[in-house]
Amino acid sequence: MLNGKKSLFSGMQATGTLHLGNYLGALKNWVELEDDYETFYCVVDLHSITVRQDPAELRRKARALLTLYIAAGLNPEKNCIYYQSHVPAHAELNWILNCFTYMGELSRMTQYKDKASKNEDNINAGLFTYPVLMAADILLFQSDIVPVGDDQKQHIEITRDIAQRFNSVYGEVFTIPEPYIKRTGARIMSLQEPTKKMSKSDDNENASIFLLDNTDTIIRKFKRAVTDSGSEIIHSNDKPGISNLIEIYGIATGKSIDETMKEFEGKGYGEFKIAVGESVASMLKPIQDKYEELSKDKTYIDGVIKSNAEKASYFANKTLRKVQKKIGFPEKIK
Ligand code: TYM
Repeated sequence: MLNGKKSLFSGMQATGTLHLGNYLGALKNWVELEDDYETFYCVVDLHSITVRQDPAELRRKARALLTLYIAAGLNPEKNCIYYQSHVPAHAELNWILNCFTYMGELSRMTQYKDKASKNEDNINAGLFTYPVLMAADILLFQSDIVPVGDDQKQHIEITRDIAQRFNSVYGEVFTIPEPYIKRTGARIMSLQEPTKKMSKSDDNENASIFLLDNTDTIIRKFKRAVTDSGSEIIHSNDKPGISNLIEIYGIATGKSIDETMKEFEGKGYGEFKIAVGESVASMLKPIQDKYEELSKDKTYIDGVIKSNAEKASYFANKTLRKVQKKIGFPEKIK
C-alpha cells in the first residue's frame, strides 16, 4: 500500500529484444491494472549488467524498452515508468537486504543456476545476489502484487521470505507481496523447442517472436514452428508445440482453448499456423505503429523519463528512510 492505495512493481531487463513471452506473460497484463493500483514499471538496467553489456547498446535498448512500455498501452500519466539506475534507493536498499539474505537460499535459485551455467566465464557476485535487488525493487514500493510470468515466481517467494524476516525483527516495515500470474500466457514456449520457455538469450531467431518483427517474419516463424506428431489441433500435455500455439492464438483473439479447438476441428497444422501468425501480427501492429511514432518524439520521452524518475524516487525514498531509521543508521543533520 502507498498513500492508502494498493501498489505494484514490475520490471523487465533491457537486454535482448522483447519477445512474445514478455508481452503475453507480463506487459499485456500490466495495462489493465492502472486503475486499481499505484503502479511502478521499471527498466531494470542495474540487473542487466550481471551479464556483460556493450554500453551504447545497453543505452539504446533501455530507451527502446521504456518506449515500448508506453507503446504497449501504459499511460505514463497513470503509471510510473522509469530507469532503475535513475533511482539510487534501489541500490541502497539492495545492500541492506543483502544482510538479511542467506547464501543457501540464493544458491537454490533456478535462474541463477541456469544463468551461471550459460556464463561460466563470468559468474559474478551480482548474478548471485540478483534476487536481492529484485526484492529491493518490489519492497521499496510496498507492493501488494507483482505481475510477472511464471519464471519469476521463485524470486517473488524469496522476496516474501526476506520481507518477513526483516519485519519479524523491526515490525511491520514492508508489505508482503503476492505474485500476480495469469493462468494463460504465463509461460510461452520456444517455437523451435516447445519444452523450453521462449527466452531472450536463445540464439535461434526462429524460436522467438520479437515485438518489433514485421508481419511476414511473424507468419514465417509460425509456419516453421516445431509441432508434434499427429495432425489435430488439440491442447494436451503430450503436445507441447501445438498447445503453445493454441494458447498464443487464444490470447491474441480472445478465444478460449475450447473455442479454438472447435474452430480448427478437422483442419491441419498448416492452416492453423498461418491463422496464429496473422492473429499475432494484427495484435502487435498497433504497438509497432505507436512505437515508431513515439521513438521520433524525443522531447516527450525525455519528459517521461525525468518526471517519472522523480515520482519513483519520492516513494522509494520514503520506504528507504523508514528502513534506515529502523536499522539504526544515524539521522542526517539538516
Ligand atoms: P525478464 O526481463 O526476463 O522478463 C520480463 C517479464 O517477462 C516474463 N517472461 C515470460 N512470460 C511468459 N513466457 C515467457 N517465455 C517469458 N519470458 C519472460 C517474465 O516472467 C517477466 O515478468 N528479473 C526480472 C526483471 C525484474 C523484476 C523485478 C520483475 C527485476 N526486478 C521486480 C518483477 C519484479 C527479469 O529478468 O525479467
